[in-house]
Amino acid sequence: MAKKKQINRREFLEKSGAGILGSVLAISIGAGCAITKTYRSSVQNGRIVIETRQHPELLIAGGSIIIEPDGMLGPIILINTDGKTFNAVSAVCAHMGCTVGVTKNFFLCPCHGSTYDLEGKVVRGPAAKSLYKFKTEVENGTISIIIDSGKQ
Ligand code: FES
Repeated sequence: MAKKKQINRREFLEKSGAGILGSVLAISIGAGCAITKTYRSSVQNGRIVIETRQHPELLIAGGSIIIEPDGMLGPIILINTDGKTFNAVSAVCAHMGCTVGVTKNFFLCPCHGSTYDLEGKVVRGPAAKSLYKFKTEVENGTISIIIDSGKQ
């Protein structure tokens, strides 16, 4: 018959506390936003033009960059959603204006947890409105983000 090892209360709390801390860290790291490079850009003739050869991260599904356009109020996230489709959405959260981050499948606001799909539509509040989505055009190795044509 095997002997059970008894531990005292202190040992139990130390071991269970360490386990909980380890779980919290794993969840935090797993749910975190990707590190996305940020670039300044100018708006010319109502559009921002991005050359994909200068941004290899955009060539793979899930790859994204953040653009800070001169003269605009907030950054724009440009993401390759499936290997051939590019979405450009405002990174300004529709709840209270924090800057959302990018995960593999969602845009996530660090302030109160609003979550948006890659089209910018709300999947979890408190935000009630979608992120502003810009029209994009892909042609000859460039992606144009149309600034002044309104929503798609
Ligand atoms: S500002 Fe984004 S959820 Fe509140």
